[in-house]
Formats: sequence, C-alpha cells, structure tokens
Amino acid sequence: MIFSTLKINDSDPIYIQLERHIIGGIKKGDLKKDSKLPSTREVSKYLKISRNSVISAYENLESKGYILTKRGKGTFIAVEGEKQVYEYNVEWDNLVNKYGKVLRDKDIIKSEPKFRRGMISFKSIAPEGELFNLEDFKRALMDSWTYEEVHLLNYGYAKGYQPLIDYLFEYMREKGVSKENKDILITNGFTEGFDIILASLTSPGDVILCEEPTNNTALKVMEAYGLKVVGVSMDKDGMVIEDLKKTLQLYTPKLAYLIPSYNNPTGIVMNSERRKEIYKIFREHSVPIIENGFNEELLYSSSPLEPLAALSGRGNGVVYIGSLSKVLFPGLRIGWIMGDKKLIDILESVKRGRTIHSSFLDQSAFYYYLKSGAFTRYIKNIRKYYRSKYNLIMEMVNKHILYEYVTGEGGLYVFIKLKNNISSRELLNLCYEDGVLFMPGDLFYNNAKGESSLRLGFGRVSDDDIRIGIEIIGKNIERLMKQKGYEGELGD
Ligand SMILES: Cc1ncc(COP(=O)(O)O)c(C=O)c1O
Repeated sequence: MIFSTLKINDSDPIYIQLERHIIGGIKKGDLKKDSKLPSTREVSKYLKISRNSVISAYENLESKGYILTKRGKGTFIAVEGEKQVYEYNVEWDNLVNKYGKVLRDKDIIKSEPKFRRGMISFKSIAPEGELFNLEDFKRALMDSWTYEEVHLLNYGYAKGYQPLIDYLFEYMREKGVSKENKDILITNGFTEGFDIILASLTSPGDVILCEEPTNNTALKVMEAYGLKVVGVSMDKDGMVIEDLKKTLQLYTPKLAYLIPSYNNPTGIVMNSERRKEIYKIFREHSVPIIENGFNEELLYSSSPLEPLAALSGRGNGVVYIGSLSKVLFPGLRIGWIMGDKKLIDILESVKRGRTIHSSFLDQSAFYYYLKSGAFTRYIKNIRKYYRSKYNLIMEMVNKHILYEYVTGEGGLYVFIKLKNNISSRELLNLCYEDGVLFMPGDLFYNNAKGESSLRLGFGRVSDDDIRIGIEIIGKNIERLMKQKGYEGELGD
C-alpha cells in the first residue's frame, strides 16, 4: 500500500497531504504509469480519514493530469515519473588481469590496418563463402529439424551431439587414427579446443614447444596463460630435427604444439618421414603432442599424409584438435578434440563449466550435411579452385617479388621472406596507401624475428586482384630497396 509511509499531520489539510504524497511517489518512480491506485474507500479506511478528503485529493490530481479514473475500472497513474539514477563509475582498466590485458593488446583485428572498401586484401585465410553449397546445407538443416525438433533447442550434452561424434570417429579412422582408448569432445572450433586444453593442463611458466613461426591465435592465448613459448625453426619439410634436439636439451616442455599440415603462416606441410622422426623424438622425451589438424582436408597429395595422431596407434600421447573452419562454414564454430578417454572426460567437465556445450542445432545440421555426401563433392571442387589460385599467386610472386624464399604448398596462403631484410611493416605502410593489405610476418613470432616476412592469404581474392595486388607489392618492394640502396633482380 502506497500510503503506508504517509504520516498525517495536523497543520495541513488532509487532501493536500494526500496529493503531495501521490505526486512524490510518481516523481520518485515508486508509482509507475498505468499502475492502479487504491479506491477512495480503501484509502479512507486504511488511513482512518474521511472519504471526502480522499475524493478531493483524487479530483484535484485528475484535474492536474496526474491520475485518470476509468469508469468501472478504478483510478490509474497517468504520467511517467522521473527515472532515478545514481551514477556509479569504476576504472575497469585497473581491474583487468594479465589474461585480459594480453588478449586486448594482441587483438590484431583492432590493432592492424583496417580493410576499407575497394582494397585488395591478402590478410584473410578464411574460405571463399561463394563456394559453400548452400542448398545442401539448407537441406541438412531441414533434415536435422525434422528428425530432432525440440531436442535441438533444449540443453544438450557437454561432450557434443552423439551422431556427430560417431561420424567424426569414422572420419578420423579414415585418416588412420585409432579409436581405441580415445574419445571426442565437440568444441567451438580449434580456438576453444586449444584454450580448454591449455586451461586444463598448463600452469603459468610451463614451457610449450612450437614450430617457429606459428599461428597468431595460439601464440597470444599461450602468452595470456603465462606460458613460455619456445620455437623450433623449420625448413621446407617441417621442424628442423637438429634444432628440436638442441631445444630439448635446454628445456623440459610440458607440451608440444604442432601444425603438421599447412603450418600457419608458412604453409609448410611436414613430409611423412619428418613426421615420424619428430614424433619419435617427442616420444623419447615424453613430451605430449597437441596436433592441430586444421586444413588437412586441402592436402592435394595423391597419397594422403597421416596425422601424427595416427602414428601413436592405441597410445594416448597425441591429442588431435580438428576443425574444418578453413574449408567450410567457419561461422558454425565447430571443432573437436580427439584424445585419451580419461583426458577427454576431464575436458568435457571443463567445457561444461565454461560454456555448457556447443550449439546442438549447429552440430546437428553440420552432421546431416557431412552425412549427406555433400561434403565429399564440395571438397573435390574447392581443392581444384584453391589449387588454381595457388598456381596463379606463385606465378605472380615469381614475376614481381624479390624474395629470399617462399613457402607454402597450396592451402590458402603463402609465406614470403624478403631479401635484404626489407621491413614488411614499412612495406605494408606503402602498400596500404596503394590499397593493398597483407599480414606482416612479425605477428607469427613471439620474439623480434619475422620482420622481413609476410603472409599472403589468397583464398578469397579474385584472380584479377591477385594480379594487381602482387604487382603493387612488388613495386613497393623495389621502392624500398632503392631507398635503402640495395640492388636486386628478380630471380637472383
Ligand atoms: C592454425 C589455425 N588453426 C585453426 C584455425 C581455425 O580456428 P577455428 O576452428 O577456431 O575457426 C585457424 C584459423 O585461422 C588457424 O590459423
């Protein structure tokens, strides 16, 4: 009752006291517009005052527009009160921890030069969306809805949508990975899978051994967790064995993180001999391997390379993170971790604690899409498409760019080391003015290396733009070479 706080005094007329009380209530926001006032009879009884005083107060308030009587319904507040706010400010920046600070400072989407309409961008390594077979996906979505309906909209299981898990077991078996003693956890892409593994297995200060260079996302997440990233150099076939052995004499890594197929950014594919050698060395030193299998689907080789996880048979020393993001529907955010059963059991609980589970609607639609056979047709098609783009970019790079070396065997990007230590940051500044963007190589190193290298993503660049863009990059390299007094001929 709004009148419970009203104390009637003897000095003012009662109807005036009632009016003030109601207007005060409206202004403070206690009486909201359209809320109902007690009847005059109820008020007079409650306050033990004459009913006429209440009627006078209500009539006056109505004539001033504060309240409105609706015949047969009662009396209602007719105006909006003033909203009471009590401004309260906090210096959030001072509260951000190391994790937040590292991920903020290393957010290259915010810090790197931005794409503007009309530019030619070699920054992205996302797949070309125009190639997605949308009709097939629509059908898969309808199929999943038809079979599952409401189950997809209620809570599901942290481990993932079981038909998709079963499909992925079979998919991994075809890659040569044994299912024995293993399980699968569905994640929001590689990124969440990697994060869950680090969050569950590492402590600040642990050493993680990686290829050098390696992908920017992994580098920044490892730094955010306070891990010490130690890089091992690569040649055209993958990690350099001698360098790996030396590094293992100096450090006792908690984990090794490897991208054997199309390392990002170099595009290097570790050959099968190197895979075996590297695997055996890590096994000898009891270093568990986190294998990033993204992009494997784009391998063109007639004899497909087996993932490291396939080498371990029933063993549990390799944890495989799968993602089709660079091939298909990265927006669905679906990836998976395949590894030791007991480990997955723990990671499942961590996933539940963090995000409960990945969207079941998405997982189910993805499953029906994969199952329909559309994926196999799609892969054949895109391999041809990206292969021809790769051939074109290599032709243009050889024609226009003075480089020390180029790596990348296909996939979606090539990596270039420029001659004479030309700075790729200076080059980017010049190219940006000419409307061309790329990824400077330093983003893929956690030390000062990489300053004269760059990654060119070509999957979403039209053939014409590849021709124009590479020529512009080449011209600006020549400009920088001249400025610095270097001479050089293409093909030196
Ligand atoms: C090395 C590497 N692994 C995996 C991915 C895919 O990540 P996600 O599955 O989270 O989209 C990327 C994307 O750029 C990548 O560079």
